[in-house]
Amino acid sequence: MSFRLQPPTPARPNRCQLFGPGSNVKLFEKMAGSAADVINIDLEDSVAPSDKDVARRNTIAAINEVDWGRKTLSVRINGLDTGWWYRDVVDLLEQAGDRLDQIMIPKVGCAADVYAVDALVTAIERAKARPRPIGFEVIIESAAGISHVEEIAASSPRLSAMSLGAADFAASMGMATTGIGGTQETYYMHHEGAKYWADPWHWAQAAIVAACRTHGILPVDGPFGDFSDDEGFRAQALRSATLGMVGKWAIHPKQIALANEVFTPSEAAVTEAREILAAMEEAKARGEGATTYKGRLVDIASIKQAEGIVRQIELING
Ligand code: COA
Ligand code: MG
Repeated sequence: MSFRLQPPTPARPNRCQLFGPGSNVKLFEKMAGSAADVINIDLEDSVAPSDKDVARRNTIAAINEVDWGRKTLSVRINGLDTGWWYRDVVDLLEQAGDRLDQIMIPKVGCAADVYAVDALVTAIERAKARPRPIGFEVIIESAAGISHVEEIAASSPRLSAMSLGAADFAASMGMATTGIGGTQETYYMHHEGAKYWADPWHWAQAAIVAACRTHGILPVDGPFGDFSDDEGFRAQALRSATLGMVGKWAIHPKQIALANEVFTPSEAAVTEAREILAAMEEAKARGEGATTYKGRLVDIASIKQAEGIVRQIELING
């Protein structure tokens, strides 16, 4: 064990991040009224090049005018390989009020990408005396991004969350699929006449979770494109939750309840966690570091696992 303690992640619910294009103004009120913890208004790839300026103006107006309640409000800016991103940052920071919580930087490839945006944001905050610093979230969705995931996780004190973007990631990696997340027909093991599907996103997710947990950042699973496939979404989200991710994007309102269900610890899980903590309290009173709970070993590591579940439900219940 390192002598350095693992930093805690930001204490906010982040079970579902609902996306909507900044060019589609009629969605804003619906997004604000949804059950998603985080709202991401998009200026990037769901907005056509000819709509970039109007989407930016719509977004700034919506940040200022719509009642977003207690949601975390985020805007996805354009990538650093475009001519749009600096205007996104300047106009958002100068014209959107303090209600904007964070900006999402897509297609981050190295820590210096985040540094560049941080430098611009910091200058505008100083010039305009913004009272509250803007936070960052990033998307890992390229070969460079996953190769440099750890330095990206450490890149800025503004950074609070990191998502896996399956579609761009697959394209950048040259993966033989056009699917956005989930099971891939061609990714299977074959044994004694039967196929067993494996998870091609697993290693990237695990790398993101490890980088995030090292630096106190929330790891989030990105989009699942087939919004007609509830069971596919649920299976993907359950795998992400099992690996340590805290939430998942919704690209359609149907997916919000599914994400909230998966990323809210169940009553049974919370009861079990509390029982394990009680069993360990009793063990401690007897001077023991390990005991038996329902026929299985629980020890001091189990306390951390159980406390994680209890902390999560307390956060969600506010
Ligand atoms: N947020 C809130 N409400 C939404 C929504 C969203 N992202 N997407 C659709 N809705 C609403 C629709 O307006 C419609 O409302 P109504 O019943 O009041 O008419 C209802 O949900 C059903 O929508 P549906 O007809 O099934 O979908 P659609 O054809 O209108 O839109 C998409 C489908 C995929 C184009 C749309 O969901 C969308 O733009 N998603 C976000 C895409 C995005 O942001 N991508 C970037 C991240 S990958
Ligand atoms: Mg993308």
